[in-house]
Amino acid sequence: MRWVLLGPPGSGKGTQARKLAETYHVAHLSTGDILRREVAEDTPLGQQARSYMDSGELVPDVLILDMIRKRLSNLRNGSGYVLDGFPRTQAQAEALDSMLGELGQTLDRVVLFEVGHGEISKRLAGRAVEETRSDDSDTIVAHRIDVYRRQTEPLVDYYRRKGLLARLNGERPIDTVFSEIQQLATA
Ligand code: AP5
Repeated sequence: MRWVLLGPPGSGKGTQARKLAETYHVAHLSTGDILRREVAEDTPLGQQARSYMDSGELVPDVLILDMIRKRLSNLRNGSGYVLDGFPRTQAQAEALDSMLGELGQTLDRVVLFEVGHGEISKRLAGRAVEETRSDDSDTIVAHRIDVYRRQTEPLVDYYRRKGLLARLNGERPIDTVFSEIQQLATA
């Protein structure tokens, strides 16, 4: 399994990626989680990424690509993975194609989580109460959605043209969404 999970903030990518990793024993590579760890540990990468993340902007491609390249090449040859939150720009998608080419790999599937603005705002407002993510305030969430529409949504067409895209309605309950994902995994 070599999958990409694509979708707006709060669409459930992280939730479903964790379930996939546990069920199918594949690696879960979340660029958001990796960056939050780097910020928490105040590493040089974390220091560079922090202001972009706090304002809901994308971290520059060069930093992200360096980070992903290392992790993909460190995976045991042949292990599967789920990429959650990467790629997010055309440049990242093209760089991923080159990295996979060098590793002799191809993607099997790109799953798009379709969730409307209202549902996203409700979910992330709920998370802002339970957790302390610096980018879950109303204004920053609205900006993250806008950044998604402008910079990441064009990848839907990129992967559709490659014949890799599977769309799913991410507004349904977590277990219903996961059942549909499992059907994709066994198709
Ligand atoms: P990142 O961490 O990737 O944030 P995101 O894409 O905005 O995604 P979220 O984690 O908010 O949502 P999700 O889709 O994973 O949903 P989740 O499962 O958590 O990125 C953060 C920042 O890092 C970016 O803004 C950027 O600065 C930087 N960054 C990261 N990757 C980058 C890259 N490649 N390039 C450049 N910059 C990058 O669910 C959300 C909530 O909803 C949870 O509370 C969950 O319990 C709930 N929920 C989930 N599914 C359901 C459901 N079906 N029904 C009801 N509730 C649900």
